[in-house]
Amino acid sequence: MKIIGTGSALPEKVVTNDMLAGFLNTSDSWITTRTGIHTRRLLSIETLEDLALKAARAAIESSGIQPEDIDYLICSNVANSYVSPSLGSMLLSPLGCCCPTFDLNGACAGLVYSLDIADAFIKTKKYRNILIVAAEEPSRFCNWHERETSVLFGDGASALVVTDGEGFMDFRVTGDTHTDVLYYKRALESTPYDRVEDKTEPLVMQGREVFRLAVEASIEDVDVLLERNGMTGEDIDVFLLHQANLRIIECIREHLDQPREKFPTNLQNYGNTSSASIGILMDELSRAGQLKDGATLLLSSFGGGFVTGAAILKWSGIQY
Ligand code: UT7
Repeated sequence: MKIIGTGSALPEKVVTNDMLAGFLNTSDSWITTRTGIHTRRLLSIETLEDLALKAARAAIESSGIQPEDIDYLICSNVANSYVSPSLGSMLLSPLGCCCPTFDLNGACAGLVYSLDIADAFIKTKKYRNILIVAAEEPSRFCNWHERETSVLFGDGASALVVTDGEGFMDFRVTGDTHTDVLYYKRALESTPYDRVEDKTEPLVMQGREVFRLAVEASIEDVDVLLERNGMTGEDIDVFLLHQANLRIIECIREHLDQPREKFPTNLQNYGNTSSASIGILMDELSRAGQLKDGATLLLSSFGGGFVTGAAILKWSGIQY
């Protein structure tokens, strides 16, 4: 499987750390030194569906194939305002696609989870051209009266078109149960058989524990993938890591002992956009001509669950 099209979309509203410090007990210096984030984009005048459509259209356009030639749409999304229908279903008609779709909740690892499934679909020759859209609005999960989580996230969408070809070399996806460290819980309706006084609980995160799990798990994924493919960090040209925290990326980089230039970041501008983050970074770098034809890329992501997803691929240049 190879990537033949990329797209991304971000909300217009730019929110600085100082703006947050205007109503939360936080500061630009705390957020910058602990996370590396300077600004994030938050949905205000658009909807998540708008972002998803914009990213998907850009990916399809750059792929050179027609919307009707998309055989499957996998939509990576933790949650949006609808539980049903899926976000993927809502995108099909506006995109001009007529194909099966489902939403995949792989938390922040959702894009790599989606790629792994697409790779299996393509290898079995069941489907050929697959559109993957990762669209996330984590700002809608946070408690905006508390500083712990709200400063970390941003909204955004990315999209990839993949098809059969030489590109992806190997995947490693993992899962484990650590519910308490990171969750967002919605209220259930009462039934005649079970009355519940339920209420939605905004995102709860044990930051330090998630940080530890993230570094450990990402390093394990990267090490296993490199070893399995007879490679070392030297063989990787670009590491595209989940954009959650600059310090997490730095821990992984130090473990690999590779130069900073190999670890591009954009979390400074967008915060943690959950499963959209690696795709947004890939789209920006690719459009800026910073991913060279034939370059070896390593993707690595982690998120609530606890889940992880990593992959190694050879990049083939895309004409925009
Ligand atoms: O995609 C996966 C999603 N999540 C992540 O990747 C998050 C992983 N975790 C992290 O990135 C970091 O743990 C955080 C950035 C969330 C926190 O950084 P930390 O260095 O682990 O700080 P901490 O949680 O140990 O808190 C240090 C202090 C505490 O105060 P005391 O107890 O030392 O007085 C917190 O109450 O910082 C305080 N604090 C804040 N201060 C100002 C926590 N949040 C804030 C804030 N502004 N926004």
